[in-house]
Amino acid sequence: MDVPTYELNDGNLIPQIGLGTYSLNGYEGRDAVANAIRAGYRLIDTAFNYENEGAVGAAIRSIGIPREQIFVTSKLPGRHHRYDLAVKSIEESIARLGLEYLDLHLIHWPNPKTGLYVEAWQALIDCQKRGLIRSIGVSNFLPEHLERIISETGVTPAVNQIQRHPYIPQDAQLQFDAGLGIRTEAWSPLYRARGLETLPGMAALEEKYGKSAVQIVLRWHIQSGVIPIPKAANPVRQQANLHVFDFELDAEDMAALGANPDPAKTVVEGNPNTHEEM
Ligand SMILES: NC(=O)c1ccc[n+]([C@@H]2O[C@H](COP(=O)([O-])OP(=O)(O)OC[C@H]3O[C@@H](n4cnc5c(N)ncnc54)[C@H](OP(=O)(O)O)[C@@H]3O)[C@@H](O)[C@H]2O)c1
Repeated sequence: MDVPTYELNDGNLIPQIGLGTYSLNGYEGRDAVANAIRAGYRLIDTAFNYENEGAVGAAIRSIGIPREQIFVTSKLPGRHHRYDLAVKSIEESIARLGLEYLDLHLIHWPNPKTGLYVEAWQALIDCQKRGLIRSIGVSNFLPEHLERIISETGVTPAVNQIQRHPYIPQDAQLQFDAGLGIRTEAWSPLYRARGLETLPGMAALEEKYGKSAVQIVLRWHIQSGVIPIPKAANPVRQQANLHVFDFELDAEDMAALGANPDPAKTVVEGNPNTHEEM
């Protein structure tokens, strides 16, 4: 299974779907990530705060696929936003992964009350110049946070990773990101599998396309130009989630899937202007 790619605004290529790894820890986590890579995943999403960079790196190194064929993302935690701490944190992430470089590193949350995200961004920029990171980006950034880092450093992120699923379709943020040439990634793209099959009209869509509710939602992300990073520990589910490149939703179904917003259905209480995640 060859996953198609997008070109980022810095010229690097990124797979159109990835594996989320939140809660894939230890040897079990390592084996789940290794299974996913064997199944065809080439984008793996981890974070310093998931405490599994070690397991993810061990999986990647165990597979015997050339390093340059795997796209590894990690994230800078809120408590490391100070410039000097951020640089050490990035070096530590790379050391934990046991790799020479990261393909993408994101500021995990802007933490605007702490007020150091511009410093953190400068650290990512400088580590990219040192060759430690190929592409740099952000996560959970609202338009005002993006505007600030761009105006203060002159550097536009390649990626913004945000919560997105049919209950939180994020139309305005998607448009804003696209206007700046930023590729949006969707975290919790399946709403943590809490009943996507009960979305209005989903049973008819499953019948029409011969696909599961999860596959239809993943396809909706992809056709929206968004990169979903579904987490699956189960190898059967990992495989099913990759089989989303052999059908196409029509325009009416695409619109219908984004037409049921319910902001109460947020996975974490995550307004990036107030949510501080350290
Ligand atoms: N940037 C951020 O602030 C942020 C925040 C949250 C998450 N993330 C990233 O986004 C990734 C994905 O989000 P998430 O883990 O919160 O939730 P998710 O991917 O929306 O859902 C994961 C859940 O869906 C289940 N699942 C997966 N495929 C399925 C299928 N085909 N059929 C039925 N159930 C299926 C999984 O089960 P099994 O695992 O049991 O197979 C798991 O319980 C995370 O792992 C993490 O890498 C980033």
